[in-house]
Amino acid sequence: GSDDAPAPLQLGFKAVAKNKNDLVTVPEGYQVSILHALGDPLQFGEESWKDDGSETADSYNRRIGDGHDGMYYFGLSDDGKFNADRSDRGLLAVNHEYVVAPYALHPNGMTKGATRVPSEVEKEIYAHGISVVEVKRSTGNDMVMVRGSRFNRRVTSATEMVFTGPVKGNALVKTKFSPDGLKTRGTNNNCANGYTPWGTYITCEENWLNVVGRAAGDDAQRDAKEVVALKRYGLPENRKSPYLWDTAGTDDLFVRWTSSVTGAAATDDYRNIANTFGWVVEIDPFNPTSTPAKRSALGRFNHEGAWPAPAVAGKPIVMYMGDDARNEYIYKFVSKAVWDPKDVNGGMAAGAKYLDEGTLYVAKFNADGTGQWLELTYGKNGLDASNAAYPFADQGDVVTHARLAADKLGATKMDRPEWGAVNPLNGEAYMTLTNNSNRVDPGASPTGSQLKPDAANPRYYSDNYTNADGTTKTNKGNPHGHIIRWRENAGSVAATAFAWDIYLFGAEADAAANVNLSGLTAVNDFSSPDGLYFDPRGLLWIQTDDGAYTDVTNCMMLAAVPGQVGDGGVATAAGGTATRKGANASADTVRRFLVGPKDCEITGIAVTPDGKTLFFNVQHPGEDGSLASPSSRWPASQANPSATQRPRSATVVVTRKDGGAIGL
Ligand code: FEO
Ligand code: CA
Ligand code: CA
Ligand code: CA
Repeated sequence: GSDDAPAPLQLGFKAVAKNKNDLVTVPEGYQVSILHALGDPLQFGEESWKDDGSETADSYNRRIGDGHDGMYYFGLSDDGKFNADRSDRGLLAVNHEYVVAPYALHPNGMTKGATRVPSEVEKEIYAHGISVVEVKRSTGNDMVMVRGSRFNRRVTSATEMVFTGPVKGNALVKTKFSPDGLKTRGTNNNCANGYTPWGTYITCEENWLNVVGRAAGDDAQRDAKEVVALKRYGLPENRKSPYLWDTAGTDDLFVRWTSSVTGAAATDDYRNIANTFGWVVEIDPFNPTSTPAKRSALGRFNHEGAWPAPAVAGKPIVMYMGDDARNEYIYKFVSKAVWDPKDVNGGMAAGAKYLDEGTLYVAKFNADGTGQWLELTYGKNGLDASNAAYPFADQGDVVTHARLAADKLGATKMDRPEWGAVNPLNGEAYMTLTNNSNRVDPGASPTGSQLKPDAANPRYYSDNYTNADGTTKTNKGNPHGHIIRWRENAGSVAATAFAWDIYLFGAEADAAANVNLSGLTAVNDFSSPDGLYFDPRGLLWIQTDDGAYTDVTNCMMLAAVPGQVGDGGVATAAGGTATRKGANASADTVRRFLVGPKDCEITGIAVTPDGKTLFFNVQHPGEDGSLASPSSRWPASQANPSATQRPRSATVVVTRKDGGAIGL
C-alpha cells in the first residue's frame, strides 16, 4: 500500500562541471581510489605491472585484463557463499572487452602488418574476457582487491566453455575443437553484463567481429543459406578482422579465428567459429573451477548485455537485452521455470533451470506509445523452412540467427541498443540508444542501411563537432542518442505488450528546443548514453561513451531520479517526427556526478547494498593517442599531473569522505 511508501529519492551532491582534464573529477566531499588496472597480478608469485609491456602472454591468465567494461558486485559471506546484503566483502566480476593494444599491452605497441606476431596475439587472447576478484573494505568504505584470494580467477578468449539450450549439439556449432557441438573455447569482446538472483555473473559477447575473419572465395564453399546468415552478421567473404588473430601462425590457437571452409567437413575446420560468439555467457564467481556456459536460449547477436527484472517468487525470470549495432533490435527472454528463492546459491545448475528453457521475444514500438513483444519460436510466426529470406531448420537455428528471425517479424530497428536496467521501485525497464548516424532526413530517399526516423527513434539533425586537431565535422542522424523505457502491461514481466516513452534525449544544453527535447542544462547535458544501472536504492546512473561531445568534455557519469513512463507527453523532434517523451530534466532529477580522464569511456558500475561504495570503470584512457605520444597518463595522472606512465583501463572506487551514502 502507499502508507509505507519510502521517502522520494533526492540527489544530494554538487554537479561536476564538464571538463577535459586527465583526471576523474568527482563532486566535493567525494574521493576516488584505483581498485585494479590492466596487468595487475591476481595472485602472489607474479611480478607487478612494469609499465613496459614486458609481462608474458601466459601471465595474463593470472593478471587483470584490458578494456574494463561491465561489472557486478556480489556480497560474499564468511562461508564463501553469495550474500546479497553484504557490503564490506564481495566478489567483483569485471568484463575485459578488448585490448587497447597500441598503447599499454605490448613493449612497442601493436606490431601491424600482413601477419601478426604470435606472442602479441597470445597475450591479447588472454587479456580479453573476465576477471573475478575478491574485494574487501579497507579504510572507511574504500575497497581493495584481495590478492591471492582463492576466488580470484580469469576467464579468457581461450577458456573452455559449454553450449547449453537450443544450440547444444547443433550442427551450427560443430567445430574441429568440438565435433559434437557441445563446447567451445573463449568468450571475448564482453561489453556489458548482467547478473542472476541465484548469484552468478552474466557476460555478453558484443563486437566479436573484431577478431573473426573470413577468406576470399568462401561463399562458393557454402550453402546459400549460410552465406545469407554470415552477411547478416557482418561477415562477408574476404573480410579481414581488425585484430588479425588468424594471421599469427598455424597453431590452432590462431587458426580458429578464421570463419572459412578449409577442410572437408565442419568438424575439420572452424567455418562455424562465428556461430560460437555473440552469446550470453554465465559464470559462477563463487566456484572458481566451474565451467562457464553459453546460454543459447537468449539468442545470438552483438550482445551488449542481459539485465534481469527483479525476481519474484512464482514468476518467471526475465532478461532484457540489446543488440548494439545500427538499426538492430531489443530482445526479452522469459524463463519457463518460475523463481524459487531456494535456488539462491544454486550455481550453474540454477542457471540451467532458468536460462536454458524459455521464450525469446523481440520488441516492436508503435507510434501511439504501445509496443509488442514478438515471439521468436521455431514453427511460430512463419519461423520455419517456409521463410524465403532464410529458411529456419529448428530452434537452434532461430536463436543462432535471431536477427534474421526478428527481421521476419517486423521488429523495430533501433538507434544502437546499448545497456539496459530495470527500476527496482516500479519494474519499468530502460535502455540506452547511444546514437545512429544512419538516420536520414524524413524527406530523403534512404539508401542501403539508412532509415527514416520513427516514433521510438525520432531525431534527425546535423551537429557540428570540432576534432582535437581543430577540424570541424558534421554529425548527421541522431548524434547524441536517447534512453527509451517501457512498462509491461498489467505489471507482468511476462506480458507480450507494453507502454513506452523516451525518458531522456542526449543533447548539448544550447541546442535548439526540438533537439534538446529533455531541456538539459549545463549541470546535466551529455552525449551518447551507453552504460546504465539502477542501484539497489533506485538511483539511475547514466554513463557516456565518446559521442559528439568530446570536443567539449571527456566522457561522464550522471545520476538521475527518473519519473515513469508517460510523465512527459508528446513532442515533435528535429526532423518532424512526433514522439512520446519523459518529463523535462532538471538539476533535481538529472545531475553530472563525475567526468573521466582524457579519451576514455566511462562504463561499468556497481554499488554495494548499503549504497556507500560505488565502483565504475575507465575504459581506454588515451585511446586517441599513440605509444610515442599518449593523450592520457591516467591512472598515474590522478595523483601526479606530470606522470609519464602508460594509460591503462582500470576500476575506480568512489566513496564519500564523511562515510555517507553515494549520490544522495
Ligand atoms: Fe562495447 Fe556497445 O559498447
Ligand atoms: Ca558499451
Ligand atoms: Ca558505446
Ligand atoms: Ca569507446
